[in-house]
Amino acid sequence: MLIRPRRLRKGDTLRRMVRETRVDKSSLIYPMFVKEGQGIVEEIDTMPGQFRYSVDTMGRKLEDLQKAGVNAVMFFGLPDHKDSCGSQAYDENGIVQKALREARKQYPDMYLITDVCMCEYTDHGHCGLLTPDHYVDNDRTLDLLARTAVSHVAAGADMVAPSDMMDGRVLAIREALDANGYQETPIMSYAVKYASAFYGPFRDAAGSAPAFGDRKSYQMDFHNRREALKEAMLDVDEGADIIMVKPALSYLDIVREVKDMTDVPIAAYSVSGEYSMIKAAAKLGYVDEERIISETAISMYRAGADILLTYYAEEIASCMDRGIIG
Ligand code: PBG
Repeated sequence: MLIRPRRLRKGDTLRRMVRETRVDKSSLIYPMFVKEGQGIVEEIDTMPGQFRYSVDTMGRKLEDLQKAGVNAVMFFGLPDHKDSCGSQAYDENGIVQKALREARKQYPDMYLITDVCMCEYTDHGHCGLLTPDHYVDNDRTLDLLARTAVSHVAAGADMVAPSDMMDGRVLAIREALDANGYQETPIMSYAVKYASAFYGPFRDAAGSAPAFGDRKSYQMDFHNRREALKEAMLDVDEGADIIMVKPALSYLDIVREVKDMTDVPIAAYSVSGEYSMIKAAAKLGYVDEERIISETAISMYRAGADILLTYYAEEIASCMDRGIIG
């Protein structure tokens, strides 16, 4: 007798019935750039279709997201002043803190997450303080990251997401949040973050390219797999509530392994370069944008992601609404 897998592929109703991966909009998080100033809706050159907003204009995007059924955002801040210790990152009147207070007031149903890092705020563009010989100083940076996280929560953040890759920062942030009465605020750790060329467009968007050198002394080497498990386990031990793998598309093997090795929800961040490559190819007419974003998004969920951070959140939500994926 012939075994016939094709039997279960006949007709849309049956194909949907036997689908192994099911997704819904509650898993989507939209990364958003907020900038000092007024009246700003500025398209990002390297990310067509993505914009920088000022606090007074960001509501347009938040409303569109809510209409599309995307109820979670992650804020990245673009300050108007940078210095060697990234002081705008933890200033209570910093750009992210202002955006949080406004969004909290106007959009109480939006779930507000913040990226906690120094690179958008330091004049040298690295993710921490520097030693005199230009090495990123792990332990002195921890205190500033913890202050940043506390200031975000004080301004209204529902969750904080440290992306700096300093050792011990999840514990430092957890202790600081607890000490300030924020025991209930979860930490989504960018635990497994590779030093990646896929961040190129983001660094243009956020003006956060390092002024010298690269991030390889703190972000991970993409040749490594077991190191990802070590980073993930350490962050779970330090108290991370959600573990992120970043980028997503070239790291689906890592998403799967981290999922299998841990018992926390896993987030995959489909980063700027993933967005821009699809956008560019679609603009040239080489690929069908909607089908490509559907297929790549499902690959991330299939690999084990419970949560997807993506600049295509609205488009993916629409694909879900229309039954293209789901
Ligand atoms: C901050 C940070 C970066 C991204 C998220 N948080 C940039 C970097 O590490 O250089 C990249 C996001 C993207 O490319 O979409 N450290």
